Amino acid sequence: MEILETSRLVLREFRLQDTDSLALVLSDPETMRFYPAPLKRPEVEQWIARNLSRYASDGHGLWAMVLKSTGEMIGDCGLTVQDVDGPTDIEIGYHIRRDLWRQGLATEAARACRDYGFAHLTVPRLISLIRPENLPSRRVAEKNGMKIASETMRKGLLHYVYAITREQAPSGLSI
Ligand SMILES: CC(C)(COP(=O)(O)OP(=O)(O)OC[C@H]1O[C@@H](n2cnc3c(N)ncnc32)[C@H](O)[C@@H]1OP(=O)(O)O)[C@@H](O)C(=O)NCCC(=O)NCCS
Repeated sequence: MEILETSRLVLREFRLQDTDSLALVLSDPETMRFYPAPLKRPEVEQWIARNLSRYASDGHGLWAMVLKSTGEMIGDCGLTVQDVDGPTDIEIGYHIRRDLWRQGLATEAARACRDYGFAHLTVPRLISLIRPENLPSRRVAEKNGMKIASETMRKGLLHYVYAITREQAPSGLSI
Protein backbone atom coordinates (compact mmCIF):
# COMPACT_ATOMS: atom_id res chain seq x y z
CA MET A 1 0.00 0.00 0.00
CA GLU A 2 1.34 3.42 -1.00
CA ILE A 3 1.43 6.00 1.79
CA LEU A 4 3.18 9.09 0.43
CA GLU A 5 4.69 10.49 -2.72
CA THR A 6 7.30 13.26 -3.02
CA SER A 7 8.99 14.60 -6.13
CA ARG A 8 11.57 11.78 -6.23
CA LEU A 9 10.22 9.16 -3.84
CA VAL A 10 7.31 6.91 -3.01
CA LEU A 11 6.88 5.62 0.55
CA ARG A 12 4.91 2.39 0.71
CA GLU A 13 4.42 -0.41 3.22
CA PHE A 14 7.21 -3.01 3.42
CA ARG A 15 6.72 -6.58 2.26
CA LEU A 16 8.92 -9.59 3.02
CA GLN A 17 10.14 -9.57 -0.61
CA ASP A 18 12.00 -6.32 0.24
CA THR A 19 14.51 -8.28 2.35
CA ASP A 20 17.34 -8.32 -0.23
CA SER A 21 17.03 -4.59 -1.02
CA LEU A 22 16.73 -3.65 2.65
CA ALA A 23 19.78 -5.78 3.54
CA LEU A 24 21.82 -3.55 1.20
CA VAL A 25 20.95 -0.73 3.63
CA LEU A 26 20.77 -2.30 7.10
CA SER A 27 23.60 -4.83 6.69
CA ASP A 28 26.09 -2.15 5.61
CA PRO A 29 28.59 -1.56 8.46
CA GLU A 30 29.11 2.09 7.51
CA THR A 31 25.37 2.85 7.42
CA MET A 32 24.91 1.06 10.76
CA ARG A 33 27.95 2.55 12.52
CA PHE A 34 25.80 4.27 15.14
CA TYR A 35 23.93 1.02 15.90
CA PRO A 36 25.18 -1.94 17.94
CA ALA A 37 25.92 -3.91 14.73
CA PRO A 38 24.91 -4.27 11.08
CA LEU A 39 21.86 -6.54 10.75
CA LYS A 40 22.18 -10.16 9.63
CA ARG A 41 19.62 -11.42 7.12
CA PRO A 42 17.24 -12.98 9.71
CA GLU A 43 17.35 -9.67 11.60
CA VAL A 44 16.40 -7.80 8.42
CA GLU A 45 13.44 -10.17 8.04
CA GLN A 46 12.47 -9.54 11.69
CA TRP A 47 12.83 -5.83 11.12
CA ILE A 48 10.32 -5.99 8.24
CA ALA A 49 7.98 -8.20 10.31
CA ARG A 50 8.13 -5.70 13.18
CA ASN A 51 7.05 -2.93 10.85
CA LEU A 52 4.20 -5.04 9.42
CA SER A 53 3.00 -5.42 13.05
CA ARG A 54 3.29 -1.68 13.56
CA TYR A 55 1.11 -0.99 10.49
CA ALA A 56 -1.54 -3.29 12.00
CA SER A 57 -1.37 -1.98 15.58
CA ASP A 58 -0.48 1.70 15.10
CA GLY A 59 -1.54 2.48 11.51
CA HIS A 60 2.03 3.51 10.69
CA GLY A 61 5.64 2.36 10.99
CA LEU A 62 8.82 2.64 8.97
CA TRP A 63 7.86 2.56 5.31
CA ALA A 64 9.83 1.37 2.28
CA MET A 65 11.41 4.20 0.30
CA VAL A 66 11.25 3.69 -3.47
CA LEU A 67 13.24 5.86 -5.87
CA LYS A 68 10.78 6.77 -8.61
CA SER A 69 13.45 7.15 -11.32
CA THR A 70 14.59 3.51 -11.04
CA GLY A 71 11.83 1.76 -9.06
CA GLU A 72 14.45 0.54 -6.55
CA MET A 73 13.72 0.18 -2.82
CA ILE A 74 16.55 2.29 -1.36
CA GLY A 75 15.81 2.73 2.34
CA ASP A 76 13.15 3.52 4.86
CA CYS A 77 11.50 6.48 6.45
CA GLY A 78 8.44 6.60 8.64
CA LEU A 79 6.73 7.08 11.97
CA THR A 80 7.21 4.80 14.99
CA VAL A 81 5.85 4.89 18.53
CA GLN A 82 8.53 5.63 21.16
CA ASP A 83 8.42 5.93 24.92
CA VAL A 84 10.93 8.62 25.81
CA ASP A 85 10.56 10.13 29.28
CA GLY A 86 6.96 11.34 29.25
CA PRO A 87 3.87 10.64 27.17
CA THR A 88 4.28 8.39 24.15
CA ASP A 89 5.99 10.12 21.24
CA ILE A 90 6.03 9.50 17.50
CA GLU A 91 9.49 9.36 15.96
CA ILE A 92 10.52 10.12 12.39
CA GLY A 93 13.29 7.67 11.44
CA TYR A 94 15.32 7.18 8.24
CA HIS A 95 18.02 5.00 6.66
CA ILE A 96 19.27 5.34 3.10
CA ARG A 97 21.47 3.11 0.91
CA ARG A 98 24.97 4.51 1.12
CA ASP A 99 25.60 5.13 -2.60
CA LEU A 100 22.63 7.54 -2.56
CA TRP A 101 23.66 9.69 0.40
CA ARG A 102 23.91 13.47 0.17
CA GLN A 103 21.31 13.97 -2.52
CA GLY A 104 18.68 15.36 -0.15
CA LEU A 105 16.62 12.16 -0.21
CA ALA A 106 16.42 11.71 3.58
CA THR A 107 15.39 15.33 4.02
CA GLU A 108 12.73 14.99 1.32
CA ALA A 109 11.27 11.87 2.94
CA ALA A 110 11.52 13.18 6.51
CA ARG A 111 9.68 16.39 5.67
CA ALA A 112 6.91 14.41 3.97
CA CYS A 113 6.61 12.16 7.07
CA ARG A 114 6.48 15.25 9.30
CA ASP A 115 3.63 16.71 7.27
CA TYR A 116 1.86 13.34 7.11
CA GLY A 117 2.23 12.92 10.89
CA PHE A 118 0.74 16.29 11.75
CA ALA A 119 -2.04 15.80 9.17
CA HIS A 120 -3.08 12.29 10.27
CA LEU A 121 -2.19 12.07 13.98
CA THR A 122 -3.27 14.22 16.91
CA VAL A 123 0.22 14.41 18.43
CA PRO A 124 1.46 17.78 19.77
CA ARG A 125 5.01 17.12 18.51
CA LEU A 126 7.13 14.77 16.40
CA ILE A 127 10.63 13.69 17.45
CA SER A 128 13.81 12.07 16.14
CA LEU A 129 16.12 10.24 18.57
CA ILE A 130 19.72 10.75 17.44
CA ARG A 131 23.14 10.02 18.90
CA PRO A 132 25.25 13.19 19.25
CA GLU A 133 27.95 11.72 16.97
CA ASN A 134 25.50 11.13 14.11
CA LEU A 135 26.01 14.45 12.36
CA PRO A 136 24.26 13.53 9.07
CA SER A 137 21.12 12.45 10.92
CA ARG A 138 21.22 15.55 13.13
CA ARG A 139 21.42 17.71 10.01
CA VAL A 140 18.39 15.95 8.50
CA ALA A 141 16.46 16.63 11.73
CA GLU A 142 17.49 20.29 11.65
CA LYS A 143 16.44 20.60 8.00
CA ASN A 144 13.15 19.02 9.12
CA GLY A 145 12.64 22.00 11.45
CA MET A 146 13.58 20.14 14.63
CA LYS A 147 15.61 21.37 17.60
CA ILE A 148 17.12 19.50 20.56
CA ALA A 149 14.42 19.37 23.24
CA SER A 150 16.06 17.00 25.76
CA GLU A 151 18.40 14.03 26.14
CA THR A 152 17.58 10.40 26.83
CA MET A 153 19.34 7.04 27.15
CA ARG A 154 18.57 4.25 24.65
CA LYS A 155 20.34 0.90 25.07
CA GLY A 156 22.84 2.59 27.38
CA LEU A 157 23.72 5.31 24.86
CA LEU A 158 23.00 9.02 25.08
CA HIS A 159 20.56 10.28 22.43
CA TYR A 160 19.36 13.79 21.70
CA VAL A 161 15.59 14.14 21.49
CA TYR A 162 15.09 16.37 18.45
CA ALA A 163 11.53 17.72 18.29
CA ILE A 164 9.20 19.94 16.31
CA THR A 165 5.82 20.99 17.67
CA ARG A 166 2.66 21.28 15.63
CA GLU A 167 2.85 25.08 16.02
CA GLN A 168 6.43 25.15 14.71
CA ALA A 169 5.62 23.07 11.61
CA PRO A 170 5.44 24.96 8.32
CA SER A 171 1.85 25.76 7.39
CA GLY A 172 2.17 24.89 3.70
CA LEU A 173 2.20 21.10 3.95
CA SER A 174 4.25 19.24 1.33
CA ILE A 175 1.62 16.48 0.94
C1 LIG B 1 21.25 10.08 7.98
C2 LIG B 1 21.00 9.73 6.52
C3 LIG B 1 19.64 9.05 6.37
C4 LIG B 1 21.05 11.02 5.69
O1 LIG B 1 20.64 10.71 4.36
P1 LIG B 1 20.96 11.66 3.14
O2 LIG B 1 19.93 11.35 2.08
O3 LIG B 1 22.38 11.58 2.77
O4 LIG B 1 20.66 13.10 3.77
P2 LIG B 1 20.46 14.45 2.95
O5 LIG B 1 21.09 14.32 1.60
O6 LIG B 1 19.01 14.80 3.02
O7 LIG B 1 21.34 15.47 3.79
C5 LIG B 1 20.82 16.23 4.82
C6 LIG B 1 21.92 17.11 5.37
O8 LIG B 1 22.89 16.31 6.04
C7 LIG B 1 24.18 16.61 5.52
N1 LIG B 1 24.98 15.41 5.51
C8 LIG B 1 24.71 14.26 4.87
N2 LIG B 1 25.72 13.39 5.07
C9 LIG B 1 26.63 14.03 5.84
C10 LIG B 1 27.88 13.65 6.39
N3 LIG B 1 28.39 12.43 6.18
N4 LIG B 1 28.54 14.55 7.17
C11 LIG B 1 28.04 15.78 7.39
N5 LIG B 1 26.83 16.19 6.89
C12 LIG B 1 26.17 15.32 6.13
C13 LIG B 1 23.90 17.08 4.12
O9 LIG B 1 24.99 17.86 3.63
C14 LIG B 1 22.64 17.88 4.30
O10 LIG B 1 22.88 19.16 4.87
P3 LIG B 1 23.10 20.48 3.94
O11 LIG B 1 21.91 20.55 3.03
O12 LIG B 1 23.17 21.57 4.94
O13 LIG B 1 24.35 20.27 3.15
C15 LIG B 1 22.11 8.77 5.97
O14 LIG B 1 23.36 9.34 6.23
C16 LIG B 1 22.02 7.40 6.60
O15 LIG B 1 21.32 6.50 6.12
N6 LIG B 1 22.77 7.21 7.70
C17 LIG B 1 22.82 5.94 8.39
C18 LIG B 1 21.53 5.59 9.11
C19 LIG B 1 21.24 6.52 10.25
O16 LIG B 1 22.12 6.88 11.01
N7 LIG B 1 19.96 6.92 10.34
C20 LIG B 1 19.50 7.83 11.36
C21 LIG B 1 19.35 7.17 12.67
S1 LIG B 1 18.99 8.35 13.97
